[in-house]
Formats: sequence, C-alpha cells, structure tokens
Amino acid sequence: MRKTIVAGNWKMNKTNAEAVETLKKLAELTKDIDGVEIVIGAPFTALSDAVKAVEGSKIKIAAQNMNPNEKGAFTGEISPLMLNAIGVKYVILGHSERREYYGETNEFINSKVKTALAHDLTPILCVGEKLEDREANKTEAVVEDHVKGGLKDLTKEEAKKVVIAYEPVWAIGTGKTASPEQAQEVHKFIRNLLTDMYGEEIANEITIQYGGSMKPENAKELMSQKDIDGGLVGGASLEADSFAKVVKAGL
Ligand code: G3H
Repeated sequence: MRKTIVAGNWKMNKTNAEAVETLKKLAELTKDIDGVEIVIGAPFTALSDAVKAVEGSKIKIAAQNMNPNEKGAFTGEISPLMLNAIGVKYVILGHSERREYYGETNEFINSKVKTALAHDLTPILCVGEKLEDREANKTEAVVEDHVKGGLKDLTKEEAKKVVIAYEPVWAIGTGKTASPEQAQEVHKFIRNLLTDMYGEEIANEITIQYGGSMKPENAKELMSQKDIDGGLVGGASLEADSFAKVVKAGL
C-alpha cells in the first residue's frame, strides 16, 4: 500500500571519493533487494558523482537541504533546478539540526516543501520533539506543529508525495533509540493527524520513517511496527555494510 523507504543521511561527512566508494559497495550489497526504496543523502559536493556512482542500481540520491528559490542572490545556497539538473530525486528538509543551528522555521521549511514538489523532488520532511518537550508532555503538540507547519496549504495530491521522518531529537546521534512502542505511538499520532487533514486514503499512502540511532540491531523491530514505514539513518548509514543491513531489515 505505501512504500518502505530507508534513507541514509550522511550529514557533513565524506569527501567525493569516499562517497563514491561507499555507494559502489552499497550498490553491490543491495543489488538483489526488492521492496525497499534505498536513498542516500550525500553532501552537496558529492551529489553529482553520487548520482553517477549509483547508475544502474536501485539507489536514489537525496540532497540534505535546498533553497526555496529557483535562482538569484542567495550566496552559498543550492536551488531545485541545480538538483534536477544532476539527477537528484529526494531532498531532506527541516532536519532538526537545521531547525536548531540555522534557525529554520516551519514557514521556511514549508516553502521548501512546496518548491521541491513543484520540481519533482520528493521531500523528506523531518519532524520531532526535543527531550525537554517530551518531559513536559509536549511531544504531540510539537509534532503536530511541525507536520501542519511543514505541509501547510498542500493539496491532497501534493501531500501524498511527501515522506515524513519522525525523529525524536533526543534519539539523534545519542545511541538512545525510541523504543518500538514509543516510536509507534507517535507514528500513529502522525497518521491520525494526516487522516484528519487529508482523509484515510491519502494518510495510508504517506510513508512515515523513523530516525534516531536506528542501526542493524534495532531496525527490524522498529520497522515492523504498523505505522513505521522505513528509516532515516545517520551514523549507521556511513558504512555500506551496516546500512545494507538496515535496508534488509525493512524487507
Ligand atoms: O537524519 C538522520 C538522523 O538525524 C538520525 O541520526 O542515526 O545518527 O541518530 P542517527
């Protein structure tokens, strides 16, 4: 019914040569996999060669950010047209590191989501609460704000093309994974929210990934939860062997 998508987010790691080497290994390790969409979010400098390195394989390449404008005086930014031109298919938007370190707001993220959709790029919209939100019982309120803010004014047809990644900030890079039950609870909350916003049929088509210390040891249990449709994987995506194991856990 909906796609299982396992995406690696390399963050600010890997030179061009390192990216190509890892992708070639990963392509070999995953060549027989069917039924899981495999995505790697490489740094901007490696994107062009990354797309070439995965030619003929099932791996798709993602950018980790994008400017909402097509061109202009935005020093240091990368536009959707530039991503289209080199064959990038996905773009990670609103990651908690961008919200936290670069002040990205829901409004700005929403404008990027719209631009991505208008340019045939699949947005992976990241949402999730910080530890202090969870401790103050604000998980649902924060997640609702991120989901509604990120998807604001999208039509049903547009919304069903978006991938949502639920990433509890306290679980990112900390080794602390949300338990499968904790993660499922929030995924179900998101699915219900999407049902309220777009109806059951569309809500059931939207892939909701889990992210936060996902690794070969815990990936299967997380992804076997009813509303968890894949993962957004940081640390465990840097090595082809461990990422291939996470991908296989999604089968
Ligand atoms: O985008 C990926 C997430 O931030 C998860 O990172 O797997 O290193 O915890 P992590």
